[in-house]
Amino acid sequence: MDKSFLWGGSIAAHQCEGAINEGNKGVGLMDLVTVGAYGQPRDIHTEFEAGCRYPSHIGIDFFHRYKEDIALFAEMGFKALRISIDWSRIFPKGDEEEPNQAGLDFYHAVVDELLMHGIEPIVTLYHFEMPIHLVTEYGSWKNRQVVDFYLRFCETMFRSFNHKVKYWVTFNEMNHIDPQSEASDIFTYIIAGLKFSEIEDKKRTLAVIGYNMTIASCLAVNLARKINPENKVGCVFGIEPVYPVDCNPENVLNAYKQMDRDFYQIDAMCNGAFPKYKLKEYEAIGIKLEIDERDQTAFKNGTLDFIGMNYYASSVAAYEGAEDQASALFGGLQNPFLEVSKWGWAIDPVGIRYLLNYTYRKYGLPIMITENGLGAVDEVATDGHIHDAYRIDYLKKHILEVKKAIELDQVDCIGYLTWGPIDLVSATTGQMSKRYGFIHVDLDDEGKGSLKRTRKDSFDWYKQTIKENAANITE
Ligand code: BG6
Repeated sequence: MDKSFLWGGSIAAHQCEGAINEGNKGVGLMDLVTVGAYGQPRDIHTEFEAGCRYPSHIGIDFFHRYKEDIALFAEMGFKALRISIDWSRIFPKGDEEEPNQAGLDFYHAVVDELLMHGIEPIVTLYHFEMPIHLVTEYGSWKNRQVVDFYLRFCETMFRSFNHKVKYWVTFNEMNHIDPQSEASDIFTYIIAGLKFSEIEDKKRTLAVIGYNMTIASCLAVNLARKINPENKVGCVFGIEPVYPVDCNPENVLNAYKQMDRDFYQIDAMCNGAFPKYKLKEYEAIGIKLEIDERDQTAFKNGTLDFIGMNYYASSVAAYEGAEDQASALFGGLQNPFLEVSKWGWAIDPVGIRYLLNYTYRKYGLPIMITENGLGAVDEVATDGHIHDAYRIDYLKKHILEVKKAIELDQVDCIGYLTWGPIDLVSATTGQMSKRYGFIHVDLDDEGKGSLKRTRKDSFDWYKQTIKENAANITE
């Protein structure tokens, strides 16, 4: 790992900011999602209901406490922090001509604070924070007009933060919805504001959404380059190795296909064209996408500068032909060689090396680990501290495999950002009790607590790891 390696963490606006009624913010789609419980999905509402807890409304109050939080990240020696911009703070409804200055001011304050501490801001433009108005009035990403609204928002950000922000991420995990697979309500909602069970003509709609988001990303890359050729633009994918259940070639092929479904958008963004195999796959099921001729040039000129990789777990594909094709991340088969987190996610450090190799050999582009971490329940010990040895163990093992990928396999990995360096709201469950942080936040699932920040044991460990550039992490 060389000196420029970007050590740090990742957070997202809807999971930490809170303050939904401040700064003229509009309603974002995650503002309407309630808290869930263990194994229980979050409820999705169309309007606010009295007596329900919507975790994004408080978040962890980052909106008011960002200075304190950034100072703690700086104390750990962070070189980078990935934040997301809540689109509904900049364009409260999404279709306005002019941006909301108060929203821009807030993010300028955050970015300035980061720069003041020598922390590189890495800015995600879409981390599930679409203005709900674009869903209700325009039908979300299935409407090509929404791509234009997104580009207006991107252009506003590129211009306003020109020379302050160099690293941009167009989207977080658009790959979780694919026309060929079933999805949960929460996953299609998180990404597009639509419940899977309520989508009409599912395959066609998801194909259109997938295409529109992909072209939106490529057009945003074009824009970022035009505004400043020094910009480095990536897109973040949530991908996992999918292992076959055994070495029966049919099952191996099945696992390959399941894993490959997560890659068509990366292919489009790295190879300079929307993949022909995907268009033919759609044609075979009677779907013909309307493709604007100018899109081809956009794909060609809009290839990524880096790939962002969110890695938590690997999964095992079911037997060929089996009904349940869900991955271990969201139910499905468990790997007998691996332990799982309390939420059932398989803990697989070697998987991160596998995926880094796989992706780097496929595209040859720099890769940034944009999320990795362990969601766990932390107990405050009698001495008042949190001794999270399990988190240190998880991260240590993963960083060791990243090191091997860089040093032994020659993968160009440019950074490692942990998910949730400070405890924040879980995206899938809305819980606070699913904690990832080096910094504890005193807030429970009911939204009660002082919001006080406290360093956990992992805080000092990560600080040391950054200081030594991971020389302290050995076999
Ligand atoms: C990633 C998302 O998929 O997983 C984050 O980008 C999310 O927003 C993270 O928080 C962990 O998932 P969860 O449900 O444990 O918060």
